[in-house]
Amino acid sequence: MNMLPPLSELALAAYPPLSGEALSSALDAAVRQTASCLPKFAHAFKYSHSVGNWYDPPSDNVEWTTGFWTGELWLAYELSGKPAFREAAGWQVLSFLDRIERKIDVDHHDMGFLYSPSCVAAYKLTGDPVARKAALLAADNLVGRFQDRGQFLQAWGTLGAHDNYRLIIDCLLNLPLLYWATDETGDARYAAIATRHLRTALGLVLRPDDSTYHTYFFDPDTGEPLRGVAAQGYRDGSAWARGQAWGISGAALAYRYLGDARSLDVFTRTTRFFLNHLPQDCVPYWDFDFSDPSPEPRDSSACAIVACGLLEMARLIDDSGISLLYRDYAARLCNALWTHCAVTAPSLSNGQLLHGTYARHSPYNTCADRGVDECNPWGDYFYFEALVRLSKDWKSYW
Ligand code: GLY
Repeated sequence: MNMLPPLSELALAAYPPLSGEALSSALDAAVRQTASCLPKFAHAFKYSHSVGNWYDPPSDNVEWTTGFWTGELWLAYELSGKPAFREAAGWQVLSFLDRIERKIDVDHHDMGFLYSPSCVAAYKLTGDPVARKAALLAADNLVGRFQDRGQFLQAWGTLGAHDNYRLIIDCLLNLPLLYWATDETGDARYAAIATRHLRTALGLVLRPDDSTYHTYFFDPDTGEPLRGVAAQGYRDGSAWARGQAWGISGAALAYRYLGDARSLDVFTRTTRFFLNHLPQDCVPYWDFDFSDPSPEPRDSSACAIVACGLLEMARLIDDSGISLLYRDYAARLCNALWTHCAVTAPSLSNGQLLHGTYARHSPYNTCADRGVDECNPWGDYFYFEALVRLSKDWKSYW
């Protein structure tokens, strides 16, 4: 049974599903944007956000965000077959192997964000053994962060540190790397750890009103779950838009592996909250504490992530009516993004999606403003992925 709100109750009703013609234009624009970046970024990465809508200068392979640009290259290669995209992405795979072998900026859980759209994608598309090796090393690195006391993958900081003994909702997107590693090696340990983390996380992050906690602390001595705390959200009890989006997409991916009622329930409830709280133009403010009218910035990347989550669930769910409905909602979200946020020409920006927000300061969080009302590589990537998912039966990189 569908548990999402009927279209008539949603702001989304104002946006018809992206038409075939518009999808074709959007895909052409996305490939063109990617090609326009090759002169500067074939052998380099994009920084974690643009400045004035421009990524410049190129970045080294650091932070949690570089895999997305490589992922865009693979998407553009899939659509166009142009060797230049494959060559650039292949160079980047070598950089990812070097990064994990030399342990450069990998003391955190974001191995999936880094290695799924870059190296798992490379391996799936080309069979490149270097990419396989890099992705398996990244999976090894991630399982090393599993905490028996609490049954979760510690996101950040020194392992066992009291001030970082927590999981974060974003980690749901890091788990497909572990399931892939088990499929690839036959070693059940990766998937077992992913499943243990999933069961813990899906049991804790959801609040009674269907919004989510960004992070959840545990007692390092007993493993007892303690409390939900905001990191990038406005306040502990608010719904950070991107955190909610990671929850939606992550629950859809969890359902791929577990096929259980809990993942489906988390997916449905988090999606319901997200859709019910969208502003009129369907591009969420960075935190759902804000609604129309507000001077606060948007986070378009959250919308793109949710479109991918809906499209993932659309292909997993047995009921064809519900599947069509999820596709319909995703295509409407993509229309809103195409209408308000898409970069349509390389003269405007060297990203794909305007109006993202990496981090926003509030009186109740410890963030400084960062990448506010800018492009960011994950918004660019997930927007492109959503378009590709709408256009064909896409073999997931995740
Ligand atoms: N995964 C970190 C973020 O969404 O900002």
